[in-house]
Amino acid sequence: MYTEPLQNATLWLERGLNKLFSQKYNPFYYHGALPNFFIWALFISGLLLFAYYQPTLATAYASVRYITYELPFGNLFRSIHRYASDGMMIFVILHMFRVWFTDRYREYRIVPWVTGVVLLIITFIVGLSGYLLIWDQEAVTLANMTFNLVGKTPFVGAALAEALMAGKMITDYTLTRMMFLHLGIPLFMMFMLWLHYLRITRPVSEPPLALVVMLSGVLFLFSAAFPVELGVLTNMSDPAAAPLLTAVSPNVYFDLLYAWPQYLAAHNVAPLLVVLLVIAVPVGLLILPYLQKKALRDQFAVVTRENCTGCSLCYNDCPYEAIEMVDRGNDGTRFKRLAVVDPGRCANCGLCVGACAFKAIEIPRRDTNNVLAEIEAALTVS
Ligand code: HEM
Ligand code: SF4
Ligand code: SF4
Repeated sequence: MYTEPLQNATLWLERGLNKLFSQKYNPFYYHGALPNFFIWALFISGLLLFAYYQPTLATAYASVRYITYELPFGNLFRSIHRYASDGMMIFVILHMFRVWFTDRYREYRIVPWVTGVVLLIITFIVGLSGYLLIWDQEAVTLANMTFNLVGKTPFVGAALAEALMAGKMITDYTLTRMMFLHLGIPLFMMFMLWLHYLRITRPVSEPPLALVVMLSGVLFLFSAAFPVELGVLTNMSDPAAAPLLTAVSPNVYFDLLYAWPQYLAAHNVAPLLVVLLVIAVPVGLLILPYLQKKALRDQFAVVTRENCTGCSLCYNDCPYEAIEMVDRGNDGTRFKRLAVVDPGRCANCGLCVGACAFKAIEIPRRDTNNVLAEIEAALTVS
């Protein structure tokens, strides 16, 4: 399996980080929870920016300039917002690679994977619309590049670009539309996150308090030490007509996702090809789980009715909600309930085998003693 060396490298890196942070605070173990931390940091810092931001072509840049240079702590909040968005992007991508490389992204995890791809796209749209709101020369350049690129999408390009710009050209409504994307789409993100967790029984969605305090401190100090800049706007009377830059400056957020289409577009690669390549990335991610042939679900837990006492230990321990406790009817035993495994949900993890004190649940072709030894070994890994 091609992910095996990648998985080994990931686990090796994680073990190394255990020595630095200890097992309890290793950030790698919170790859899914850390984007949530940044969502909160973005929400809190964004509230202040929202209070002072004015989304029209004539006032947007001036309002950001006010926040940056005149409003007390304005630039601190702006910087926290910017660096939190960078952090979010880094950890979302890390999270994606972690679940991919450790083979936790297919079969019974298909729902978190597919919703994850949607979350990745949403994260990108929210970030991009946020950058455009600044409406300095870079934002104007980025806006033009993006609308041009979107306009080249086959069949729907013109309609899509028009929908994004809220018309055939950049006007005040364009910024209102960007504001809607920046504030409205995160609500959809909450719904997607709910779907994302739906099939995960006990998602680790919050980092431990000590890690939250540490990260908040780093975010705060970093923002204070390296406040973000505001670019220039040479044509204040008509910001939409400000001269465009030839490139947008390096930036964590876009370098991870948007630098390569920009690079290709700037090097005269046909725009249609660039658009098709951009579309190929999420499509490729969506079909990724189906490219790996080896089935994880070639085995699943099986209950031996005669041994099952209906104690529910396996039901309580199963992380995938694959076990149901059903009424066993009048089957001649004194027990009322019976464990039943849903093969479609069983991840073949073996936890129920370890939980059962009656040897009533087994994974055929995996000896109970071996499963117990595997669980023991996993619990003692440091
Ligand atoms: C807003 C961004 C995201 C947030 C806040 C988020 C959050 C989480 C959390 C908290 C978990 C549970 C982790 C655990 O219990 O160890 C999780 C699991 C998962 N996520 Fe995400 N995620 C995001 C984006 C993504 C993306 C972009 C992908 C992939 C394309 C993805 C794929 C998955 C998968 C496959 C799982 C299941 C892993 C498992 O069962 O071990 N997520 N996510
Ligand atoms: S092996 Fe047991 S604990 Fe693991 S998913 Fe299947 S039924 Fe649940
Ligand atoms: S732990 Fe064993 S005995 Fe108890 S319900 Fe599950 S299979 Fe039956």
